Amino acid sequence: MQLHLSSWPEIEAYLAKSKAVIIPIGSTEQHGPNGLIGTDAICAEEIARRAGDEAGVLVGPTFNVGQAQHHMAFPGTMTLRPSTMIAAMVDWAASLAHHGFERLYWLNGHGGNSATITAAFSEIYHGVSFGTAVTNRARPRCMLRNWWELSGVMDLCKQLFPVGEGSHATPSEVSVTYFAYPEAQKTVEMSPRIAPYGPILDAEDYRRRFPDGRIGSDPSQANIEAGAKVVEAAVKAVVAEVRSFADS
Ligand code: NI
Repeated sequence: MQLHLSSWPEIEAYLAKSKAVIIPIGSTEQHGPNGLIGTDAICAEEIARRAGDEAGVLVGPTFNVGQAQHHMAFPGTMTLRPSTMIAAMVDWAASLAHHGFERLYWLNGHGGNSATITAAFSEIYHGVSFGTAVTNRARPRCMLRNWWELSGVMDLCKQLFPVGEGSHATPSEVSVTYFAYPEAQKTVEMSPRIAPYGPILDAEDYRRRFPDGRIGSDPSQANIEAGAKVVEAAVKAVVAEVRSFADS
């Protein structure tokens, strides 16, 4: 069940039986020569939608632009300042809490978002503690989960791609997007086959170190079958985790 495909009477009926919602959160940023710019949002959304259906938990709209300043030397990338993202997340949480949602499970697709998401949670709780929250109708409790850290998922990714999994534009995440959108697959020869590793600083420095955008990866290995396996493992883990979070 997805919020944007529901009517208000359906949401009213849902709230009578559950206070939980899954919010996919990602980024709109370059993912190497064959990866989709929406990769981090698509991965979180695909896993969330399937897990929500299986667990009977509502899925909110995808928060699809995040912390991507370091990718800004590549066309198409969009980014929010940390302060903007925190403010927007606080308003998303307030809107949901106003209707009675009390368990907000944020399923994240982008490592660069993690610190800002955690800061946004502090801002949300700050408002509750000091009585300055936008709404006092519910006390929202937030949980962050990075999808690749779900139980069993990283082991599976390493098993599927023992060489060249890397850390940005990975064959695993690109496979998930190809599974979700087969028509968007791209065939590109990688040179070098495996991208270098290095620190992440500002945008110009990033492009100098990682000329085609990848870090440590060979995403030419990406394929739909691998994507299906990663999604299946991630969905299984989210279903278990979100059910226990909803009941907590
Ligand atoms: Ni990514």
